[in-house]
Amino acid sequence: MNRKSFLPIWVIFFLWSTSLFAAEIGQGVQITYLGHAAFKLISPQGVVILIDPFLKNNPKTPTALKEVDKADLILVTHGHGDHLGDTISITQKTNATVIAIAELARYLGKKGVKNIVRMNKGGSYLFKGIRITMVNAQHSSSTTEGDQVVYTGEPTGFIIRFENGFTVYHAGDTAVMSDMKIFGDVYKPDLALLPIGSHFTMGPQEAAYASKLLRPKYIIPMHYGTWPILTGKVDDFAQLMKEQPEVKVIILAPGESLK
Ligand code: NI
Ligand code: MN
Repeated sequence: MNRKSFLPIWVIFFLWSTSLFAAEIGQGVQITYLGHAAFKLISPQGVVILIDPFLKNNPKTPTALKEVDKADLILVTHGHGDHLGDTISITQKTNATVIAIAELARYLGKKGVKNIVRMNKGGSYLFKGIRITMVNAQHSSSTTEGDQVVYTGEPTGFIIRFENGFTVYHAGDTAVMSDMKIFGDVYKPDLALLPIGSHFTMGPQEAAYASKLLRPKYIIPMHYGTWPILTGKVDDFAQLMKEQPEVKVIILAPGESLK
């Protein structure tokens, strides 16, 4: 018998533990998909960031996650109801700071939100060691008051660089656009959260092209399947992405976390 064909137990343990480290995609950043375009990110230091917290009326958000008890920062990409969502009520409960483009920030201020960071595209803001950059999105943005349409500034996306360097791009609602090449070059996102539902945003074909511009390591598709009007299919996106094997598509069910 050749004894060398058996690996010592400590070698097996070592290989197993390194595979666990390799599986830790977020490098200590916990990412939870809350359905539609809503995400919760928790930094390695425990800072809780919500993006587009449309929860209570979101048909995809699991009931247990519709109420938010703790949030430090809320990033709102634009004024549409499926993104602005429960931002105002969450700030009343948590005292979270909201980051939004100037006009949307002013609107939220008028609605009683206390802690607001007004920004505009291309700029960055440092929150407890986490760098938040507001970037362009190709879409529209407004909210309604009774029968009035209220302008809430231009639509945006966000690039979040955590204290350990792990970088997440949340595209908001957007068409594919050549700016994404700049985001890839300048910010080098590890993870891109991309809409693929079509009709109001990119569909699978456009999102697969966006991936070529952004060149992330991972993509989590979002903004699909919430209502029948969003016809873009996640399976079609995954199929198209087989042409880019260097990019891993991670499909999270609402309520699921990546660590
Ligand atoms: Ni929208
Ligand atoms: Mn939307």
